[in-house]
Parts: sequence; structure tokens; C-alpha cells
Amino acid sequence: MANNQNITWHETVISKHNRRGLNKHTSSVIWFTGLSGSGKSTLANAVDRKLYEQGIRSYVLDGDNIRHGLNKGLGFTAEDRQENIRRIGEVAKLFVDSGQFALTAFISPYQEDRDSVRKILEKDEFIEVYVKCPLSECIIRDPKGLYVKAKSGEILEFTGISSPYEEPIAPELIIETDQFSIDKCANQVIAYLKQKNLL
Ligand code: ADX
Repeated sequence: MANNQNITWHETVISKHNRRGLNKHTSSVIWFTGLSGSGKSTLANAVDRKLYEQGIRSYVLDGDNIRHGLNKGLGFTAEDRQENIRRIGEVAKLFVDSGQFALTAFISPYQEDRDSVRKILEKDEFIEVYVKCPLSECIIRDPKGLYVKAKSGEILEFTGISSPYEEPIAPELIIETDQFSIDKCANQVIAYLKQKNLL
């Protein structure tokens, strides 16, 4: 166990509200969850671009990228995925404190882990977006060739094949990437943010 007995919380001088005021917009976490190949990263990046074009500060945290650095060393057991999501939740919270939108693209297959992130944020700061796409379609897309490997047993504990994906119980948004173009899907996210006065 790490010794953190002599650590005290230090309030920052500039608050989240100060930073939001400077940016002239709110800040929150837009949490994209869904199967591998469902389009989370593509959608998060499309939304990021639209926000950027409107002068809104946002940043994409992406599963594959974060696992190269911050979360290097974590695998795909339920425990490792939980730790992966916990750390991302904390990082995303820092982005919210800094007055920006954090767009996260992680499979995050467990409801409990997603709920844990929701709990460390304030109301309206966690927007769970279920990037819904049938497994059969993800298998056809197989952008990284991982489903083929998972089916042959070359990759173990692969979400949807040999590891569970728990569909969100009450997401703020469901985006069906097999039904609409990426541009239309991104517009649905932006429309939600506007409707909730988050932009
Ligand atoms: S999560 O379950 O912990 O949220 P995360 O989004 O970070 O997963 O990483 C998922 C990505 O890792 C997938 O898009 C895929 O490219 C890769 N990957 C490698 N092995 C697995 C596996 N066993 N299950 C799911 N994704 C895997």
C-alpha cells in the first residue's frame, strides 16, 4: 500500500468557474462507450472537430492512445479495465476542472466502472453516450483485425467475444453508428449539448 498519510488537499486559487468564465463555455466529460469497432474514437474526434471550429476547448482521450502511455502495463482483465477507467475518470475530471470538455473513447464495458466515474463528477458533468452498433457489424468492420484474432483464440478476453459488454442502463444519449453517417452522429451529440445549455 502506498503511504499517503502526509498528503493534504490544496485548493487552487483559480476555480473551475473562473476558468469556465474565461473560456465562455461550460465543461464536462462526454463519455463514449461501446464495442471495439463501434466508432467511439471516430465519433469523439468528429465531435472534437466541431467543437474546435466553434472555438470550444475540448480534448479526446482515446483507449488505444492512453494505453500506450499513462496506462501502459494494464491489460484486459476486469480488474485492469476497472483501473484503466478509474484513471481516465480522474484525468477527465482534471479536464473539467481546467474548463474544457473531455471526450473519452474507451470500451468501458462495465456499468459499475462507468458509474464510478459519474460519481466523482457533478450533475451534468458526465454525459454517457452509448455508441451503439451491433456486434455483427463490428465484426464485419473489424478495423484492426482484432475480431478475427479473438475468434481464433489468439486474443483472450476480447470484448463481445470472450469478455462481456454491459449495455448502458440509462445513458444520456444513444448514437447508432450503423444507422447514420459520422457527421450526422456528431451533430446529434452537438444538438444534445446545445439542448442542455452546455455549449
Ligand atoms: S477498456 O475495456 O479498458 O475500456 P480500452 O478502450 O482501453 O478498453 O481499449 C480497447 C482497445 O484495446 C480496443 O479498441 C482494441 O484495439 C484493443 N484491445 C486489445 N485487446 C483487447 C481485448 N482483449 N478486449 C478489448 N479490446 C482489446
